Amino acid sequence: MASTEKLFLRALKGETTERPPIWLMRQAGRYLPEYLATRAKSKNFLHFCYSPDLAEEVTLQPLRRYGFDAAILFADILTIPDALGQKVEFIKGEGPKLEAIRDMDGLKKLSMDGIHDHLAPVYETVSRLSKSIPETTALIGFAGAPWTNATYMVEGQGSKTYEIIRSIAYQDPEFFQALIDLLVDATTEYLLKQIEAGAEAVQIFDSWAGVLPEDQFDRWVIAPNKEITRRIKEAHPGFPVLGFPRGAGELYKKFVIETGVDGVSIDQTVPLEWAAKELQPLCTVQGNLDNLAVVAGGQQMEDQVEKILKTMTNGPFIFNLGHGIVPQTPPENVGRVVEMVQSFKK
Ligand code: CP3
Repeated sequence: MASTEKLFLRALKGETTERPPIWLMRQAGRYLPEYLATRAKSKNFLHFCYSPDLAEEVTLQPLRRYGFDAAILFADILTIPDALGQKVEFIKGEGPKLEAIRDMDGLKKLSMDGIHDHLAPVYETVSRLSKSIPETTALIGFAGAPWTNATYMVEGQGSKTYEIIRSIAYQDPEFFQALIDLLVDATTEYLLKQIEAGAEAVQIFDSWAGVLPEDQFDRWVIAPNKEITRRIKEAHPGFPVLGFPRGAGELYKKFVIETGVDGVSIDQTVPLEWAAKELQPLCTVQGNLDNLAVVAGGQQMEDQVEKILKTMTNGPFIFNLGHGIVPQTPPENVGRVVEMVQSFKK
């Protein structure tokens, strides 16, 4: 008898499905005209994330257009520093700007006390979505991993080299450990509330994991992801968790073994044969179409999609990108990718 469980959840729990489920990171976003129209209703990006009506609407938009197998809550990873009391702003064309925290005095200004009141609108969005998404679509909650959120909190903005945070992690490990510990607590509680509100899986985005040497990767990437995953599974046994230590290279394998995640999202630099041989026996793999191949479209994109489908569908697999959709992506190219994956037959 055919299973009634959602395709995405079957794959994430380790089943090799008849075709892979598909969703794309940043599937809601500026490449869609309907997103831009809804986005125009709110001047301030964080305010937009804290408006359940608008956040629910933009989460649903890509589902209506493409019929993805999963929806990801619309919010941002920087809701956590914001809820902890750090000043966070999104400046158009420049990205996020934060009042940087670089020592114990700065850390003292942050507090867990009001985080759930602050984040209540996000939980409300999850709760509404759990009722409004199609019944075959899975609902993914998410948060930024401690290291990745810390890069913004300590640098005060996005960075290319992460020199300030990497230096501080060596020079003041006591402060840095305290910051990471606070983020482990806040992130776990945030994800648990999303789960209680109806999220069926969670993804922890460690987008800047790839800049660390192995000993630092162990301490600032693996250990926090492992502890958050442990606490989620302690509260909700068997609950599926996806990790995304972007750019981790060979350390992806150690990440999977040590954190105990159910699925791992791989970026576009991870060789497919290696992922099929080394990662897929350990957990579900998600990825890894180059987001810029989707901007280009045409034969090159289709060749990449076919290679991914051919190499990865002998084990548990979720089709995704190697990193989020960029604003200049033609929506019709996304449609073609979805069509190729959803009509795939082994
Ligand atoms: O569709 C989805 O994937 C859900 C929503 C989502 C957003 N951000 C919406 C967003 C998710 C899951 C994120 C995660 C996120 N945010 C990450 C991790 C994933 C990744 O891309 O590496 C990171 C590092 C951030 C931080 C962030 N948010 C930056 C650096 C920026 C500005 C740069 C940019 O891409 O514009 C944002 C803003 C942001 N978050 C936008 C969206 C749709 C664009 C802002 C706007 O619409 O005005």
